[in-house]
Amino acid sequence: MKILISGSAGFIGFHAVKKFLELGHEVVGIDNINDYYDTNLKESRLQQISSTRFKFIKADFADNLAVKIMFLIESYTLELKQELDIQSLTLMTMSIVI
Ligand SMILES: NC(=O)c1ccc[n+]([C@@H]2O[C@H](COP(=O)([O-])OP(=O)(O)OC[C@H]3O[C@@H](n4cnc5c(N)ncnc54)[C@H](O)[C@@H]3O)[C@@H](O)[C@H]2O)c1
Repeated sequence: MKILISGSAGFIGFHAVKKFLELGHEVVGIDNINDYYDTNLKESRLQQISSTRFKFIKADFADNLAVKIMFLIESYTLELKQELDIQSLTLMTMSIVI
């Protein structure tokens, strides 16, 4: 399965990426590496992920064009759980499954 994880350089996203890779999935991570706290910590988390099944995209999940391009390149279709609030998508770590 191919999993998309937003906030992948953050605390929860990073651990979610590692877990999905351990489980054998292909993972695409997206994060804008904002400076809410030390960006070096976020960069160092990403450097710890060496799997060839992981691809990182530095982009803002609120940037429609960037997300559209990413979805085209990665051939994702979006399958959202109904209970997700669309406005919280940029704030929360989530997975999208093809
Ligand atoms: N850490 C916890 O214990 C905890 C508990 C409950 C809920 N949450 C929620 O889970 C989410 C993630 O928590 P966390 O601790 O991993 O936070 P975090 O700040 O460590 O990670 C969030 C990541 O998302 C990135 N990001 C933010 N806006 C983005 C955007 N528009 N586009 C791309 N990337 C963006 C940031 O650069 C950051 O790396 C937050 O919404 C938080 O409120 C966290």
